[in-house]
Amino acid sequence: MNHQKKPLLFVANWKMNMPLHKACSFIQDNRKALIQLTNDPNKIVVLCPSFPFYMFLSREAADIPMPLGGQNCSEYESGPYTGQVSAQMLADVNCNYCIIGHSECRIAFNENDEQIATKALQLIKVGIIPIVCIGENKKEQAAGITQNVLIKQLAPLINALKDYTGTLCIAYEPLWAIGTNLIPNISELQKICDFLADHLKTGLPLAKLIVIYGGSVDENNAAEILTIGTIGGLLVGGASLNFQKFQKIVSLNKTA
Ligand code: PGA
Repeated sequence: MNHQKKPLLFVANWKMNMPLHKACSFIQDNRKALIQLTNDPNKIVVLCPSFPFYMFLSREAADIPMPLGGQNCSEYESGPYTGQVSAQMLADVNCNYCIIGHSECRIAFNENDEQIATKALQLIKVGIIPIVCIGENKKEQAAGITQNVLIKQLAPLINALKDYTGTLCIAYEPLWAIGTNLIPNISELQKICDFLADHLKTGLPLAKLIVIYGGSVDENNAAEILTIGTIGGLLVGGASLNFQKFQKIVSLNKTA
């Protein structure tokens, strides 16, 4: 087992919220602070903007060591898939990471676990690190079947990546915590993340795994979430749109 300290992963998921002028001023107005934040070897800060802005932002932020990430990708390599973006296209515009399986995409586009595993394979093929979102809904949580839901969501991915030796990020995002200002109770969250770390290590013994948490992360709750030893970073939606909030979150260090 590798006991080397891994950098914390902070992923800003801007969703469909930042128009170009705001995306630009996020970089331009905070350039110095961003350089300082992202130069820390103990952290990786990934920015996931809207698709049309990648070329522009990768030039605008060329002096900031902040990799770009996709918010989704196609399960197909190329072809007649109107409105979709392939993994290779993301690699072409210098994306190093890509969120897949976000509950908003699972729901809006009816994405299933098999398709998400195929997307992970597409990304890996072009050298992009997948950030695979999983999580239970309110009803499943209330029924006490969270672990079963996560096992089911991960099964095709584990099967597809059995021999994978690269980096894989799993983002635990309970659906009821996304955009609601609710987060799981910390000891419950710890139990789930410990379970996930264990389950993933057994299924993907060769991969370099990172478990991160997402869902209503903000500048007030991030420090406590990061006390959980098996959490290796945060996926931040709403709070990543505000530089001051995001800066407070990314400035945190691991305490466990
Ligand atoms: P939120 O979104 O931080 O606004 O809850 C997180 C996510 O959906 O990735």
